[in-house]
Amino acid sequence: MARLRVGVLISGRGTNLQALIDAGADPAAPAEVALVISSQGDAPGLARARAAGIRSEVINHRAFNAKQGFEASMDAALRSARIDLVCLAGFMRILTPWFVERWRDRLINIHPSLLPAFKGLDTHARVLASGARFSGCTVHFVRAEMDDGPIIVQAVAPVIQGDTPETLAARVLELEHRCYPLAVQLIAEGRVWIRSERVEIANAMITNAIMINPVG
Ligand code: GRF
Repeated sequence: MARLRVGVLISGRGTNLQALIDAGADPAAPAEVALVISSQGDAPGLARARAAGIRSEVINHRAFNAKQGFEASMDAALRSARIDLVCLAGFMRILTPWFVERWRDRLINIHPSLLPAFKGLDTHARVLASGARFSGCTVHFVRAEMDDGPIIVQAVAPVIQGDTPETLAARVLELEHRCYPLAVQLIAEGRVWIRSERVEIANAMITNAIMINPVG
């Protein structure tokens, strides 16, 4: 069976990109990263694509007068690479409803909190300030509103006394690297569908159970 062709949009270090690349390196995996687009020419994540022999493009928003041109350029690159699914992985530009609708239900994002709590930036600092006992990460379909949309996979990490935003981020990041490839795999296997803006997954009990991370 043909593998799902994944396009990954990045702006920075690209550790989630790496997790998706690593998952696709298994010939038995149902999905592979086929294109990486970076909004930043100096994003360290670009070297990860190069090292894996994956096509990459820099599409810098500053090169365009309007957001429409920037997004149209990304859209054209994704289409010419015959991308089936777009993954946002630390992509720091807010997408317009035009792009979001064009890739509706084929565009997913990872966010380092248990959505719908703690949308937006500085997530871990805000989690710590709130006194919440748990945080985690969420992979979701993208809708026009930021960090909004049907949830595919979540994982929970405890907040530990003495945590800093950095220590909590590191604990959550480990989970991100498991959740993102899992979400892509589930989609590639055709096990994910959206009903009334909620995700349903075939054999969901199994996928939920492995996402509980022990303390430490
Ligand atoms: C991750 O924490 C992700 O959840 C958030 O941005 C960060 C990107 O990290 N959206 P990386 O570039 O994948 O290492």
